[in-house]
Amino acid sequence: MKILGIETSCDETAAAIVEDGHRLLSNVVNSQIDIHALYGGVVPEVAARSHIEVIHPVIHQALTEAHLTWNDIDAIAVTYAPGLIGSLLVGTLAARTLATLKHKPLYPIHHVEAHVYANFITEQSKGINLTLPSKQPTFPMLALIVSGGHSQLVLFKDHGDYVLLGQTQDDAVGEAFDKVAKILGLPYPGGPSIAKVALAGDPYAYVLPKAKMTGAYDFSFSGLKTAVLRAVQREVGVDTSFPSRKLAARLNDTQKANFAASFQRIAIETLVDKAEAAFKDHTPASVVIAGGVAANQELRCQLTDRIPVAIEYAPISLCTDNAAMIAALGYFYAQKNQPISPNELEVNPSLSMTKTAWA
Ligand code: KG4
Ligand code: ZN
Repeated sequence: MKILGIETSCDETAAAIVEDGHRLLSNVVNSQIDIHALYGGVVPEVAARSHIEVIHPVIHQALTEAHLTWNDIDAIAVTYAPGLIGSLLVGTLAARTLATLKHKPLYPIHHVEAHVYANFITEQSKGINLTLPSKQPTFPMLALIVSGGHSQLVLFKDHGDYVLLGQTQDDAVGEAFDKVAKILGLPYPGGPSIAKVALAGDPYAYVLPKAKMTGAYDFSFSGLKTAVLRAVQREVGVDTSFPSRKLAARLNDTQKANFAASFQRIAIETLVDKAEAAFKDHTPASVVIAGGVAANQELRCQLTDRIPVAIEYAPISLCTDNAAMIAALGYFYAQKNQPISPNELEVNPSLSMTKTAWA
């Protein structure tokens, strides 16, 4: 079954074709990073307009790169939740129109759930050269989902059958990376910038706190971000009334690297502490990480050190937003669910993973 996936929930316009939930036939991602970097973050209205401009060329490219025509496509899977409303509307409208015109079954996909399915892509056609996991994860599967909007630990008993063990009570970890990068004057998106600069820094240079939570698997990152802000203010000798956007100009490269490394160490340790606790309590057969922050090498190293089960990581390009993960989940979703009528598909910008449309 060849599924065309469409993803436009935030600032990436993406289309991909995946066969039987595991074989990647094409993967096209048109990133808007350059546009939003001018503003230091995603501007929702600009994102939606940019999706409109490129959605059809991106879908066309996904078919061309897979050497397929519409006749070869068995179904369309599209992100309908969660995300920016304007962005979601562009992708779902394109999917609804194409499903109607080309007479294809249409499946609504939850973006955060789909991030996990990057780990189910284990084969690729000639011409795509990704380093993929050697086999699909087995159930029960513990998933650490860490992106710009989510930080959560989810225990999957099967496809579409999962419990949310814990989640962030305030900022998502990716959001914390992005905010700390702003304080340090590092370019958007903040996660990769911090990871890069941290390589030259001392992760023990500054003492930063780890949040203590009542929920055994819950996270909090807003206090850590504020602790970085206060430590930077102390370092440059100003009080809390000093404008935070002017702090970075007073830090030298060594100080920036040390702050990046110290923040990254604590943020990642926080994630791994909770993942390790969940692993001990639930003894899953496999562990996966998902979402943009899963691209972080420090996270991969710490997890491999502390979790006593072999973890195969998805390639970085399938961790950040893409449509291959949408098409992969689309396959498993289609095994258990009826397609939705194109006229009935509505976007749901704030739907959490506890309430999905799985049967
Ligand atoms: O999953 P994603 O592409 O979009 C959302 O659904 O949110 O995640 C984007 C987030 C951003 O906060 C970005 O800074 C972070 O992932 N990120 C990273 C790295 N690469 C991307 N964070 C830490 N280290 C990285 N290497
Ligand atoms: Zn995402």
